Amino acid sequence: MTTVYFNGQYVSKDQVRISPDDRGFLFGDGVYEVVRTYGGKLFALEAHLARLHFGVCELGLAGVDVNALGAVAGELIQRNDLTSGDATVYFQVTRGTAPRTHHFPDPPVPPTVYLQAARFTPKLDPAKGIAAITVPDMRWARCDIKTIQLLPNVLANQQARAAGVGDALFVRDGVLLEGSHSALFFVFGQEVRTAPKNNYILPSITREILLELCRSSGIPARETPVFLHELPRATEAFIAGTTTEVMPLVRIDGSPLGDGTPGPVTRRLQQLFRGRIP
Ligand code: PDD
Repeated sequence: MTTVYFNGQYVSKDQVRISPDDRGFLFGDGVYEVVRTYGGKLFALEAHLARLHFGVCELGLAGVDVNALGAVAGELIQRNDLTSGDATVYFQVTRGTAPRTHHFPDPPVPPTVYLQAARFTPKLDPAKGIAAITVPDMRWARCDIKTIQLLPNVLANQQARAAGVGDALFVRDGVLLEGSHSALFFVFGQEVRTAPKNNYILPSITREILLELCRSSGIPARETPVFLHELPRATEAFIAGTTTEVMPLVRIDGSPLGDGTPGPVTRRLQQLFRGRIP
């Protein structure tokens, strides 16, 4: 039986009752996080809590103690026997339950807070890599907030699946930004490039770790836009994220990158990233 955390209590998952008036259900009015565990240890927890805190502040969600949720995540790992092997913890905070009005509930209501820990088994082979397609970025202009409104991501990912490839890469104004649920990197010769951190991408924690690994191991890396028209010159590409780790892209829109197998810089970063895992 799965034990989850719901509004201050640890309960069996089948006991959770969420109102149809919950603003997450009605408006997608909330934020979320996904944290990975390795051998039962929460990886980069502080950074995930900081990003959740940022989202909570940007949305003006009141009444949630984000820092206290780290201990809750740890407790869920224990209670669900996930102290060895790999797992993920999902966090979600919505603006709570109130009769439907576009403005915030007045008077304010408590937020809905939900956390779940689950076993994680990677589905894709990082030694082989995946193919991807590019799609127009239909998202709003605050992609830096990890909101639960993921419809463009859902549709893009489904489009990738229907095309028989592993992910869809968002393109806005000719710039390759990120995957449907991953950060995006390219390699031109020896140099690693990724889109700059602004309101058009999620400030990915894995992206940050990889940039730091590039710096500390002397791999040249630049945060600068990569344009679609530059794609034929890219020698390697990969996506990265909490569940994705470092996943080589071997083909984009049907064209191979390099010789169509994971390249040396990507493999080096996979190795360095593995070295950071506890
Ligand atoms: N997604 N970009 C987007 C749009 C994402 O949704 C994610 C993560 C990332 C990678 O961020 P990080 O390295 O902090 O995980 C980039 C999570 C895992 C998800 O939706 O499941």
